Amino acid sequence: MSVIYNYVSADDVLDAHMIEMSSFPFDEAASLEKFRSRQAQAPDLFLGAYLGEPATSSLTLIGYVCSTLSPSLTLTHSSMFTHVPNSSSVCVHAVAILPPYRRKCIASNLMREYISRLESACAEGSVSYKQVLLLSHEDLRSFYKSVGFEFIGKSDVQHGLLPWYEMCKVLDPELDVMNRTVNEKTLSLSGK
Ligand SMILES: CC(C)(COP(=O)(O)OP(=O)(O)OC[C@H]1O[C@@H](n2cnc3c(N)ncnc32)[C@H](O)[C@@H]1OP(=O)(O)O)[C@@H](O)C(=O)NCCC(=O)NCCS
Repeated sequence: MSVIYNYVSADDVLDAHMIEMSSFPFDEAASLEKFRSRQAQAPDLFLGAYLGEPATSSLTLIGYVCSTLSPSLTLTHSSMFTHVPNSSSVCVHAVAILPPYRRKCIASNLMREYISRLESACAEGSVSYKQVLLLSHEDLRSFYKSVGFEFIGKSDVQHGLLPWYEMCKVLDPELDVMNRTVNEKTLSLSGK
């Protein structure tokens, strides 16, 4: 058996939602309706990790990463809830792996595959994504760092009791230079 990465089809959204329900507290889990709308609006941003043999058609979904697009350069409630087609920020809603398959590097490999597909789509010119944004709790910051995300800072978004931290993976090198310049200016103004 191997892990295969495929975009999650409309037929597999229910399975993805079952993983969501087994991965997040009830008040944090997104509804099935939300899942259906994300898959319908941005199917190329909903990537699944499937268990099975590539030659057979029987694949079992064991994890996913799912995003929508926003023109916002930072994550806000609005950028997390409204998909704006042809925008430059890929806003990750969730990464989840079925509990029995965790701590086997499946999420790490899924995230690397996801970023590689986003970079390829940019290189082909079919999209113009500039960055991937996500919110993380403290305990998963090192996980996201290990797959290429940089720490931005504490987020204003409130959802549940624990604080959220914004993290970013830059896809457009020009944006990277711009961000660094802004950060350096901010730091020098604040005397750090
Ligand atoms: C977070 C999650 C996606 C990680 O999936 P995974 O396949 O187990 O992750 P990996 O095996 O690729 O982990 C790689 C490394 O990241 C870190 N890591 C993974 N899960 C972690 C956790 N729950 N807490 C702290 N560090 C973690 C570890 O350093 C791990 O390496 P190790 O196993 O050698 O210690 C999975 O635990 C999950 O679905 N959790 C519930 C949903 C969730 O919280 N999603 C993230 C917010 S959207």
